[in-house]
Amino acid sequence: MPGTVIVGTQWGDEGKGRFVDYLAEQSSLVVRYQGGHNAGHTIVVDGEVFALQLVPSGVLYRHVTPVIGNGVVVDPAVLIAELDMLEAKGVDTSRLRLSGNAHLIMPYHTELDRVTERYLGQNKLGTTKRGIGPTYADKALRVGLRVQDLLDAKIFRQKLDLVLREKNGVLAKVYNRLPLDADEICATYLAMLPRLEPLIDDTVHLVHEALDAGQEVLFEGAQATYLDLDHGTYPFVTSSNPIAGGVCTGAGVGPRAIERVIGVVKAYTTRVGSGPFPTELADGDATGEALVERGHEFGTNTGRRRRPGWLDAVMLRHAVRLNSCSEIAVTKLDVLSTLPELKVCVAYEGDDGKRYEHVPYHQSVLHKVRPVYETLPGWGGEIDGATRVEDLPPEARDYLRFVEELAGVPMTFVSVGPSRDQTVVMPRAA
Ligand code: GDP
Ligand code: IMO
Ligand code: MG
Repeated sequence: MPGTVIVGTQWGDEGKGRFVDYLAEQSSLVVRYQGGHNAGHTIVVDGEVFALQLVPSGVLYRHVTPVIGNGVVVDPAVLIAELDMLEAKGVDTSRLRLSGNAHLIMPYHTELDRVTERYLGQNKLGTTKRGIGPTYADKALRVGLRVQDLLDAKIFRQKLDLVLREKNGVLAKVYNRLPLDADEICATYLAMLPRLEPLIDDTVHLVHEALDAGQEVLFEGAQATYLDLDHGTYPFVTSSNPIAGGVCTGAGVGPRAIERVIGVVKAYTTRVGSGPFPTELADGDATGEALVERGHEFGTNTGRRRRPGWLDAVMLRHAVRLNSCSEIAVTKLDVLSTLPELKVCVAYEGDDGKRYEHVPYHQSVLHKVRPVYETLPGWGGEIDGATRVEDLPPEARDYLRFVEELAGVPMTFVSVGPSRDQTVVMPRAA
């Protein structure tokens, strides 16, 4: 029975967390299926701001069981700090379930993420330096430590000794760093077990029990389509599969468990870190500055300024296909309110003069494309109080209709401010 995926259609920070939070009211489980604390999902409820990294965005509802699935990579100290933060704000976190199969981010992963970025110099990826890539790499190499390994101190130590020998060799000999101490790592990680043990569970079983009972299960994507390891702008991607297909491996369900796929689309585009971005507005461009300022486009966790640009419908159409989106949800429409005119990229022009209606697979082509824009009038007035589509000015409705047509699937939600109640349900979804 019904599984719904919330997936980013751009380069992240589309506002996935706020929609997961909105839809979680009707759900019994909210499941993260990939990524780690490279994610930053901001939710605003009654003026209170919750910045989440690892804990699924459904945690704010008492009836929701938040689940960290097997496909997630977990830094246990970060998880505990996040639970403490939530508890301090009066949120009960005892319902959280943590997959025993999720991989642990270890101190050498974080260290390697830092030193390899430095080593890449000009060619750096601009990672969050949270150890995400190295942890997924070890998972694929089959030398990762998993959450369940914490439950047996002897096994944990054996696995650590095996892998640390190689990691220390690389850290010391390749990167000229001090080796890490196995005793210290063991002591730190095993000391966290009392806090984590009550949360560790067979999350695949939990998800299937809920699905079999006909309960709503929401799968919360982190990162986004163009940060996908296989389908994103490689190598400027993250090391997991945020696309809807990632739910199958990262949560342990088959494709038929998924009924709805909601692609979250920011009304413009942002990107953090390096990599191609066809509709990017150059540094210093007044519109770009306005988007960053009005949209508060700075990383939730890292504080980094996000690169701004116009909405790219070529990428959107492709994201709809890659995720088989049943619908889209548009966020941050209010950020566009002061702009006299709005541009939407409807095609690319290649270096060879060729017109591309789809995302070119070859990176040398993609890196050089020029966007072909259609220009629409702005609406010149604040819309953050809108609660129904009728409250929006005609130009805003035209903009939305245009985006919906280009996406090729219905637009079911639009948000006009960060708050839970600043969500407009589009007529078709009612
Ligand atoms: P996520 O990573 O996709 O969950 O998105 P983030 O939370 O990292 O970034 C989205 C940012 O935009 C957050 O600061 C949200 O509070 C904010 N936000 C979300 N929806 C809206 C909206 O409709 N309007 C405005 N102005 N801000 C929004
Ligand atoms: P949410 O879930 C935006 C970017 C990083 C970098 C690249 C690889 O909040 O949308 P990593 O640390 O994952 O190895 O970095 O991916 N990145 C994100 N950008 N939002 C995110 O998450 C991101 N998570 C990773 O900036 O370019
Ligand atoms: Mg974010």
